[in-house]
This record gives sequence, structure tokens and C-alpha cells, in this order.
Amino acid sequence: MGTQHTHEPDGQPGVTGRRALLGAAVLGTGGAVLGLSGTARAAGARQDGRGVKGLPVPTIIGHRGASGYRPEHTLGAYQLALDMGADIVEAGDLVPTRDGHLVCRHEPEIGGTTDVADHPEFADRRTTKVLDGVPTTGWFTEDFTLAELKTLRATERIPANRPHNTLYDGRWEIPTFEEVLRWQDEQTRKRGKQVWIYPELKHPTYFRKLGLGLEERVAKLLRAHRRDRWNSPVILQSFEPTSIQRLNKLVDNPLVVLLSGAGTRPWDFVETGDPRTVADLVKPAGLREIASYAQGIGPTLDLIIPRDGAGNLTEPTGLVADAHKVGLILHPYTLRNENPFLPADFRRGTGADAYGDVFGAYRAYFATGIDGIFTDQPDTGLLARADFVNG
Ligand code: G3P
Ligand code: CA
Repeated sequence: MGTQHTHEPDGQPGVTGRRALLGAAVLGTGGAVLGLSGTARAAGARQDGRGVKGLPVPTIIGHRGASGYRPEHTLGAYQLALDMGADIVEAGDLVPTRDGHLVCRHEPEIGGTTDVADHPEFADRRTTKVLDGVPTTGWFTEDFTLAELKTLRATERIPANRPHNTLYDGRWEIPTFEEVLRWQDEQTRKRGKQVWIYPELKHPTYFRKLGLGLEERVAKLLRAHRRDRWNSPVILQSFEPTSIQRLNKLVDNPLVVLLSGAGTRPWDFVETGDPRTVADLVKPAGLREIASYAQGIGPTLDLIIPRDGAGNLTEPTGLVADAHKVGLILHPYTLRNENPFLPADFRRGTGADAYGDVFGAYRAYFATGIDGIFTDQPDTGLLARADFVNG
């Protein structure tokens, strides 16, 4: 179902239909609140013509679940995000096992998010690899079978910032993507309301070189669960544009290209010799090209409002307007409540686990016209959206 296809199987629109889910270009900056007078209306699915049909705008995305409160990428974190009311849950960041299963971990290296170091039987798996050009030491999912990974338990990745989350260390195992899809079904049935997920494919070029291509595996599972359609409640994301292009040929789901800092190059570009940086991709020509195979971008927040040398927010760039002009929605990442992750002018107090003025930060970012935001604390994001919509 690539961009050249006009055939629309099963009576469902292909790219044309997928495109019709998105209307970001029509209203431009600030459009998110036009015609809205309250949270109830905001939660009423695309009444302003923007975003992904079925999701409120600005969309509150539970980043790695409600990872501000539970160890990330666990069913406990995903469940809490839903219970808090997140519109969609990033479940998960997907990496493969040695035997080809997809599991939910932020990175293939799992030393910091599991108790693997406490398993003497896996001590000899600790190694150093070059991951997207970066020497990385630890334990890697691709060196474990699924059965082996299932003997591990998840732990809090940043205990200095989230000491309370360590209460849950050891409680949950590493979920598979298949388990997530079943959980999505169960929760949808239980709640009588469609549950949405927003998985990310991690390091696709790295894994393809290891013979563990991600896109076909994701597509196969989505197909098996009948969730590969233009109107399926699954948005797919990746930092590698060629991975999104590959997905565009395999499935009809809405697709989002993640964008890191302006000076960086997507790793697939490095491998293929494409000289462009993110700074090139956010220019009008770069955005037009992305819009030929994706429906949105997921820029780092600094591409929406850069910080100055002291870490304070400056003035918004033109990225929201430029992306909307070519029909792309924007779901920037990641807003977190704790001081160290906030722009300097929104920090309060001194503790590494202290919350800053995150509502002020939400106001600044929402005012740019973004269509949604990844956050580790979806409950805070939902309150901020209600404030924003209610004026
Ligand atoms: O997927 C949005 C955001 O999660 C990208 O950053 O590194 O947290 O996966 P990361
Ligand atoms: Ca992610």
C-alpha cells in the first residue's frame, strides 16, 4: 500500500484514505483550539479537522506507558497510562530477540532497565557493541531467546529522578509486542472504548544487518491481529525515514518520522551515504518529501521551541506551520515533570526528582499549535490540555 497505489483493498482507502485522517494543513498554527470550548469537546475526536481521526487534539501520548510512575515499557506502566486517561500509549519501543520475537524495551541494551546483572547465568552475555556508531556495553536483547528474556524482570531506568518507581522493581516481565496487541484487545473490550497504541521501531538498520528486520515482523503481527489498516488504532513511528518508507509499502497505518536534534543525521542516512541532517529534513522540501510517505513527524521539543545557551525557551520556530502546510501532524517528544528534563526557566527547587512548572511548559508548547505530545506523566498532560482548551 505504498504511495503510488490507487487500489483500495477491502473497500478501505489506501494512502488516500490514510491521508484523509489528517487535516493538519487546513488550519495551521493555533488550529487545535479553534471552535473548542472545553475538554469534553476536545475529547470528541477531531472536531477541528486535525490529528488522527478518533484521537483528541492535542493528543496526550503516554510515553513508554505512564513511565513517570512505573518502570517503563511494562504492562504496569501501559495499564496506568490508560487508567489515567492517556489518549494513546507508546507500547512499546520494539526490539527483537535472538529467535525473532519483538519485545518492548527502549533500547536493545537492557542492563539499565532489567535485573539481568543479577543473573549469573547471563554474566557471559555482557559485551560491547557498536550501536549506530556508539560503543555500548551491556546485555543485548538480540543475544537472548524470548524464553531467556522472560526470566528477567523490569527495573526503573532513572531511580535518581524517580525514586518511588523502584518500589515496583521486579514486579513485571518484559512484554512482547504480541502480548501488547492482546492487551489492547482486552482493554478495548473491558472499557467499551477503543484503546490506541503507538509503537516505535528501534534501530531498524542495525537489526536488519543482523538478519532481524523489524518492519516485516511488525507488519506480520499487525496483519494477524487485523490492525494494519488505515483506520486501525495503531500509529507507527521510527527515527529512520527508510524504515517508515518500508512500512509504507507493508501496512496502511498512520506513520510518523521521528526527528532528533537539528545537527544529527538519521542512522539509515549515515549507512546509505545520504548527507542530509535533521536541519535539512525540517526545511520545506524535506517536509514535502516526508509527507509523500508519512502522515506526521515526531520532532524533539527543541525543534518546536529552541532553548538558549542557559537552557531557557526562546521563540518558536516555523516548524509547526511548515509541517501543517504539507499536511503533516506534529507529535513532539518528551515532556516530563521533573526539573532536569524541563527548560531551565520552568525548573523549580533543586531536587533531581522535584517537579518544575510543567504546566507553564505545556502552555508554551501547546500555544505553538502542535497536534499532540509524548509525556511520561499523562495525568499532568491531560490537566494541562484541559487548562489549554478551557482558556
Ligand atoms: O517515540 C517518541 C520518543 O519516544 C522518541 O524518543 O528515545 O524516548 O524513544 P525515545
Ligand atoms: Ca520511543
